[in-house]
Amino acid sequence: MDKILVIGSTNTDLVATVKCFPKAGETITGKSFLQTMGGKGANQALAAHKSGGDVKFITCLGRDANGQNALSYYNDQGVDVSLSLIVDDAPTGTAIILVDENGENCIVITPGANKMLTSDYLFKVEKAIIESDIVVLQMEIPYDTVNTVCELAHKHNKRVMLNVAPACHCSENLMKKIDILLVNETEAETISGEKIEISGKEAVIDKLLAMGVKSVVLTLGEKGCLLKNKEQVLYIPAFKAEALDTTSAGDTFCGALAAQLSKGHDWKDALTFATAASAICVTRMGAQPSIPSEKEVIEFLSNYHH
Ligand code: RIB
Repeated sequence: MDKILVIGSTNTDLVATVKCFPKAGETITGKSFLQTMGGKGANQALAAHKSGGDVKFITCLGRDANGQNALSYYNDQGVDVSLSLIVDDAPTGTAIILVDENGENCIVITPGANKMLTSDYLFKVEKAIIESDIVVLQMEIPYDTVNTVCELAHKHNKRVMLNVAPACHCSENLMKKIDILLVNETEAETISGEKIEISGKEAVIDKLLAMGVKSVVLTLGEKGCLLKNKEQVLYIPAFKAEALDTTSAGDTFCGALAAQLSKGHDWKDALTFATAASAICVTRMGAQPSIPSEKEVIEFLSNYHH
């Protein structure tokens, strides 16, 4: 089995469920409150781990109560975070999340310590990249750090999976180092500069492939996902699910996909598994409490009738 290295953010998620999102200047009463572990990096690391992957996670935490909680949570879950950085001069990242009655969310992140996961630190732990096979990244740590990791991973012939979330512009130089680009429609439009509604999904994917990415996985929410690379175009429909909270559905997809590919599954099986994992995730509240285990996904797949 290939070794997965996830490098990215940790957040403490403060989640309020609401009837609908407030307008500017408005105070509304929430229906419930939940504090959970989150952060796109941490969610993806846990999803890969719970999907049976061999995972190491490098993150940056503040020396505070939230950082301590995160460390003991990772230890309880069995995620190796021994190479993570703990800093004195920034708090652990937080995310304030509102979830409405349709399960849609609004998120405000305050990066805190996530901003301090710098290129300099990643050079110090280059050995972890050398010892891995697949490196998984997202954009809640500095762009410069993501760029450095991609260069190091590329130099050492590692497979790089980049989830460009939150959406941001990416240089062609960065795109050339990416083996698997995982994006939703907004992220694909931001990077390509094209509108899906005008150019169509495949044309936007083609533009990303022309930037040097080897494979593009475009996630389409409740419509499923679309993979394109030199060898194939593959559409996987979504599984029907009653959405309670869509938070971390994309992260669950990403981590589960990395784990399945690390075990040598082909694209069709790996994407089907990841699609099922995110379908389970949206039926539960919170980021990390929603991430299913490999066993749950296998059971879901064997019981599901299209
Ligand atoms: O993708 C979901 C995550 O985004 C949440 O866990 C929150 O921490 C934000 O980073």
